[in-house]
Amino acid sequence: MSSGVIATSAVAIDDVSVRFQSKRAETTAIERVSLDVAPGEFVSIVGPSGCGKSTLLKLVSGLLQPSSGSVTLLGEQVRGPRHDIGFVFQRAALLEWRSARRNILLQAEMRGMSSVEAGRRADELIEMTGLSGFENALPHELSGGMQQRVALCRALLHEPRVLLMDEPFGALDALTREQMNVELHRVWRETGTTVLLVTHSIAESVYLANRVIVLTRRPAVVKEVIDVDLPSERDYSATMARPEFAAVTAHIRELLGAATGHD
Ligand SMILES: Nc1ncnc2c1ncn2[C@@H]1O[C@H](COP(=O)(O)OP(=O)(O)O)[C@@H](O)[C@H]1O
Ligand SMILES: [Mg+2]
Repeated sequence: MSSGVIATSAVAIDDVSVRFQSKRAETTAIERVSLDVAPGEFVSIVGPSGCGKSTLLKLVSGLLQPSSGSVTLLGEQVRGPRHDIGFVFQRAALLEWRSARRNILLQAEMRGMSSVEAGRRADELIEMTGLSGFENALPHELSGGMQQRVALCRALLHEPRVLLMDEPFGALDALTREQMNVELHRVWRETGTTVLLVTHSIAESVYLANRVIVLTRRPAVVKEVIDVDLPSERDYSATMARPEFAAVTAHIRELLGAATGHD
């Protein structure tokens, strides 16, 4: 894309390659990937296991530096860990001895946010994600879905403009996962946060996103970028029933089949 776009992107990945060097071998995880994500956009990333999806998110968060190319987050080149993002992983990683609310507030404590402001924001997120009534429950008293809601609230507490999610619902049962998809879609619409979601679920990738990036098997290159042309108001069942939804998911499935098969 033209350089004029980069300044207005929330995330700009420009011709990035990542090579991992071990004693015996060099692994290329990502090969010349470019991607621009607009502010407020929801982009899903799908691709075969081990192709480099997590690596891509680590680049954006600054946990990893590219071997070549550059990553720009909110107009600033990423040169080290960035604290102005939110990150949600497959495991909620909550502190067992702290209540749901105090796990959410951990984010504020680590950042030295004002406790009044953080408390107000935590209560707002608890309400938004349907955790009301469970504020004081300990993690082991919460279902897997609720634990992931707590992790989501924690990631959103400081109102990050960019939220990175790495297979956040991969450990949940199918029904809970659908509920979480609906909640995440609503939270995204209410907060206007830019989201990059890595997922193995094709349905999830399409239901949530404005665009789906399909990666090839390792080394990951962008196989196709798919615009999701669905109404922004997405009732779950109605969306699943739409012919466009079926067409897009079938197309992605085909691309992924081709990516993992012998091509
Ligand atoms: N720190 C590392 N050192 C060496 N190889 C790595 C490292 N991190 C990831 N890899 C390799 O890079 C490839 C992509 O990994 P990853 O991004 O975790 O894949 P995905 O998330 O798509 O399953 C894999 O082959 C993995 O083994
Ligand atoms: Mg991964």
